[in-house]
Amino acid sequence: MLKEFNALPTLPLIGNAHLIFSKAEDRIKKLLELNSQYTTPFVFWFSYIPIVCVNKYKDIQVISNKSKMRDTLGTFKSIFGDGIILALPEKWKRTRKVINTAFNPVMLQQYLIVFNEQSEILCRKLSAEANTGKIIDMWQYLCDINLDIVIENMAGIKLNIQENGQNEFSKLLMLSLKLESSRFYQIWLYPDIIYRAYLRLTGHKDLYKTLYKFTKKVIETKMKEYQIQKQKMLCDSSQTEEKPLRTLIDLLLRIDDDNPDFTEQQIQEEIISMIAAGSETTALSTAFTLLMLAIHEDAQEKVYEEIQMVFKNDRYVQMDDLNQMKFLEQCIKETLRMFTLIPITFRRATEDITLNDNKIIPANCLIAIGYHGVHVDPDIYPNPYIWDPKRFSEINEISAFVPFGLGSRACVGSKYAMFSTKTQLIHILRKYRIMTNITIEEVEINVDLLIRKKGGYPIKFLYRKNDER
Ligand code: HEM
Repeated sequence: MLKEFNALPTLPLIGNAHLIFSKAEDRIKKLLELNSQYTTPFVFWFSYIPIVCVNKYKDIQVISNKSKMRDTLGTFKSIFGDGIILALPEKWKRTRKVINTAFNPVMLQQYLIVFNEQSEILCRKLSAEANTGKIIDMWQYLCDINLDIVIENMAGIKLNIQENGQNEFSKLLMLSLKLESSRFYQIWLYPDIIYRAYLRLTGHKDLYKTLYKFTKKVIETKMKEYQIQKQKMLCDSSQTEEKPLRTLIDLLLRIDDDNPDFTEQQIQEEIISMIAAGSETTALSTAFTLLMLAIHEDAQEKVYEEIQMVFKNDRYVQMDDLNQMKFLEQCIKETLRMFTLIPITFRRATEDITLNDNKIIPANCLIAIGYHGVHVDPDIYPNPYIWDPKRFSEINEISAFVPFGLGSRACVGSKYAMFSTKTQLIHILRKYRIMTNITIEEVEINVDLLIRKKGGYPIKFLYRKNDER
């Protein structure tokens, strides 16, 4: 059935895999280049595995409505287990319903407190660098704050990574994500037995066990707190109200004890999945937007004027404020368009899927969805390589905007991510004027599974007001 599709010329055994043989971080970049060289849909043979590549918005709409199964060819399973990211459709449906409630407006309001607290700490740390003339790479700062934020909001614990540095858990999480990303491209590491041997040889034998030991401890502590609270309520009739939910873990622990989807193991997998999905992504959205605003000083001044209009002093950011920061939102959206953080995602067709030109992707086939391709399609976004936040002003109606994916398996944390990014940026930009020593032409990207900038995010900080020195 795949004969209907254009296919790239193949070599024996390796198919088209040689086309993406390069340094690990450049492999998806090569795939992205292929996506723009050939009209999609086309078939890419990853050795013996055929992948239908699609980057036309209309085809992606069809696929994301039909295929609810994400597929990473067995990689990442050791980190995410059966958690929401890799759950098969039946189980995923039940999990997603519960996790959606962790992002309702009441919970978002709670998360906002943490966004504010941690942003204040970041600004305090940056004051050591302000007005020194030094250009610093923002990556580690933003990685640390976003780990602190997501770990506190999802797992209910304060690790203070910003102040104390990375701890064992965060280091192991980052390392395991890196290892799994590179395994994805190394087909010979797919069999678990070989991968385990590889981990032993590279000194990472107990990596996943140690990672899970940490979450187990957190869950046991939280479980005890919850049992004590329940006991108190039973003994003291004046205490009739449960503590309000503040974190994802609070929510998962309160789900009916008999629910087979939320055993202790399952809760661990959900928490790790959410921390992994929500840390580097938000760090990158803040990093790229900061850099764009440092390069485009006129846009930065416009954001600063907006901040001054909404905030009369340096108080905490409230939900209403976020809704008023329209131009800042345009800048973040334009950044997420130009630097589509998850440029490609992989789905397995669970049924035959008929595309717009009547070609059929057969059931069971692997599909590469190129979200990045949509964002640089000149028919949708004229001059796509120019950063122009005006594209997202209210007069322009844009529907083909997919930084958070499309369909029912799209990002569950999209609002959370926008609110977190906005809050961090408001705190930084109202205190500091930012500058950089690079131009937009010098921004080169690296891709593993996420888009990153080569050489970090160089920023110089100057106090906005003299009395803040
Ligand atoms: C700017 C930041 C973020 C971006 C650009 C982003 C992007 C995405 C994209 C594109 C997908 C869908 C991939 C697909 O179609 O297969 C996705 C899924 C997901 N994201 Fe995000 N994300 C961000 C932040 C977050 C945050 C903060 C969280 C949680 C705290 C989160 C949790 C998830 C989860 C759990 C999924 C899987 C959903 C499912 O399968 O039902 N993301 N994200």
